[in-house]
Amino acid sequence: MCGIIGYIGEKQAAPILIDGLKKLEYRGYDSSGVGVISSGPNGGMRPVPSKVILRKSHGKIQNLEELIKSRPFPESCIGISHTRWATHGAPNRVNAHPHSDCEGKILIVHNGIIENYEPLRDALRKRGHRIVSDTDTEVVAHLIEENNRGDLVQAVQKAIKQLDGAFALAIISSDYPDTLIAARVGSPLIIGLGKNENFVASDVPAILEHTKKIIYLKDQQMAVLKKDSVRVFWFGGKAVKPKVDVVKFHMDAVQKQGYAHFMLKEIHEQPDVLAQMIKSRLKGNQVILDGFGLTEAQLKGIKNIALIACGTAYHAGLVGRYVIEKLTGIPVMVDAASEFRYRDPIVDKSTLIVAISQSGETADTLAAVREAKSKGGKVIAICNVVGSSLTREADGVLYTHAGPEIGVASTKAYVAQIAMLYLMALKLSAHRKKIAARARLRIIRDFKRVPALYKDILKHKNAIAVIARKNSHFGCFLFLGRNVNYPSALEGALKLKEISYIPAEGYPAGEMKHGPIALIDEYRAVVCIAPQSEVYEKMISNMQEIRARKGKIIAIATEGDQAIKAHANHVVYIPKTNSLLTPLLVALPLQLIAYYIAVQLGCDVDQPRNLAKSVTVE
Ligand code: AGP
Repeated sequence: MCGIIGYIGEKQAAPILIDGLKKLEYRGYDSSGVGVISSGPNGGMRPVPSKVILRKSHGKIQNLEELIKSRPFPESCIGISHTRWATHGAPNRVNAHPHSDCEGKILIVHNGIIENYEPLRDALRKRGHRIVSDTDTEVVAHLIEENNRGDLVQAVQKAIKQLDGAFALAIISSDYPDTLIAARVGSPLIIGLGKNENFVASDVPAILEHTKKIIYLKDQQMAVLKKDSVRVFWFGGKAVKPKVDVVKFHMDAVQKQGYAHFMLKEIHEQPDVLAQMIKSRLKGNQVILDGFGLTEAQLKGIKNIALIACGTAYHAGLVGRYVIEKLTGIPVMVDAASEFRYRDPIVDKSTLIVAISQSGETADTLAAVREAKSKGGKVIAICNVVGSSLTREADGVLYTHAGPEIGVASTKAYVAQIAMLYLMALKLSAHRKKIAARARLRIIRDFKRVPALYKDILKHKNAIAVIARKNSHFGCFLFLGRNVNYPSALEGALKLKEISYIPAEGYPAGEMKHGPIALIDEYRAVVCIAPQSEVYEKMISNMQEIRARKGKIIAIATEGDQAIKAHANHVVYIPKTNSLLTPLLVALPLQLIAYYIAVQLGCDVDQPRNLAKSVTVE
C-alpha cells in the first residue's frame, strides 16, 4: 500500500505535502517524493514559464525532508507527493514517485498495481519512449503524454482506459498549472474540499487538519481539481454530484497523544472502543446490528457462515467460529482470504459470508468477497474504515468504529472485530435454541463488563512490561492455547513476530506431542494461555510437560489462580469472566508482551520492517 497526497490552492504546496506524507507513513515508507509546478509572478518580472520541480529520496520521509531543506522548492501552489511501499521495482530514489513522461512535464503518483504494465511498457519503448524506472506507475505517465492533444483530462481518460488492475492516481502537468486530476479503480482515494484550495489523498489523516469535508471517490471515477472548484465524473464522462461527508474524528485521533507509539495509544484506546460498541449495539439485552442488511427471515434462513480475512483479522475469524457455533449451532468455516478465493469454496445463497478487514482494502479479502458473491453468497463486512472498497462491495456493513488504527500491528481493530463477532453470535442466537436463554443473558452481562476488565488489566501493565523485558532475550517463542484460545495463541505469536522480528509460532496446545515438543529446551520461551475453563487442566498438563524439559513459561491465567504459579516462571493475570469471552481479555496482555519486548529490542514498533498497514496488493 502507498500514500498519496495532492494540493492545489493559494498556499505553498510543499510544506502541506510533506506534512501530509508524514501522516500517511503507516501506508508505506521505503521511499518518497514530492513534485510541484513552479510558475506565476516572478517579482513583477514576466511570469516564469511553468515547470516541474521534483525531489525524491530512498528510505523514510525524513530523508526527503532533509533533501528539500538542502534544495528548497521555488514558490508553488500545486503539487503531488507519495510515500511508497514497493510492489514493482526496488525501493530506491529512481523508483520513488512521482514519475514523469519523456519531457518531464507530466507528474503522476500511484497506489495499486497495473497488472498489464509490462506489455504497455514494451510497446511504449518500441514507440520511442524513454522509461527510466522499474515501476508499473511510470508507464501511465507516458501513456498520458502520448494521448495529450491539448486536453489533459481527455489524455488521462484515454490512458487509463488501457490499464488493467487497481490504481489510485494523482496527476499534474506543467502545461496545465491550474489543474490537478485524480482517478481511482480499486485503491482508495478521497478529495478534500477547502476554501480556495482542494486536496486529494489516500486517507483522511493526511488532510484532516485542513478540511473535514471529504468526497470518497468511487471506483471508475475521476475528479478535476482547480483551486476553487472540483468536478467529479465517471471515466466515461458522465458527471457526478458527489456526496460530501464531514469527518467526525479530530486531528488528535491521528496523533500519539503523548504515548511513545501509536500501537501503545491504540492498546489503551481499547476499553473505550469496546464501551462505545456496547453502548451503540446493545440496548438492554437486545443486539442492534444496523448495517447488517439482513431481514429477520434472511437471518433465520442462514444455513452456514463463511468467515474470510487475512492476518490478525483471520485470527479474529477463528475466534468467531468457536463463538458462533457454540451460541447458534450454525456451521462456520474460516478461511484465509488468499486460500478461500482459490479453493472453489462451497457457497450458495444460504451461506452468509462475513469478510473481516480493518482497512477494507486488503486485496486478497476483496478478491475473496468477489468470488463469494459470484457464487450467490450474501456478504457482510466487518470493517473499520468508512467508505473503504470492501464496504462498497459488501451487501451489508458492520463498522467497528475503532477510529484510525495507525500502528501497523493491529490491536484495537482486532479486539473490535472479535467483539463484533460476539455481538453477531448473540444476535443470531436469539433466533435459535442452541443455548438456554439464561446462559445467553449471562454472556451478555459479562460482555458488558469487558471494558472495565480491560482497565483492570491495564493497571498492571508495568508488571507485564517487567515480565516482557525479562524474556526479551529468547530467540524463539511458542504460544499455546486450546479451544477458543487457540486463535489467541496464533494472534499472540503474530503480534510478537511482526514487531520484534523474533520467530514465534502459535499452536493448539493439544498438538504439542505431535511435533512442537521437540522444540522445548531452556532456550525457548512458551506463552501458555490457561484461563479457567473446561480445558484448564489439559493446559496444566502441557505446562508440566514443558517444565520437565526446562522450557520457560509465561502463563496467562485467571486472577486468584495461585496453583498455576507452580507450573510457570511468570504469570500474567486476567480478571475472571465467562470462559467464552476470554479471547477478548487475553488479547490485551499478549499485545503488551509483544509491545514491551519489541521496545526493549529497539524495534520500530509502529512501522516494522517489510510491513505495511494494509496489503492492497496480492
Ligand atoms: C496484523 O497486525 C497485521 N497488520 C496484518 O496481519 C493485518 O491484520 C492483515 O494485513 C489484514 O489487514 P486488514 O484487517 O486491513 O484486512
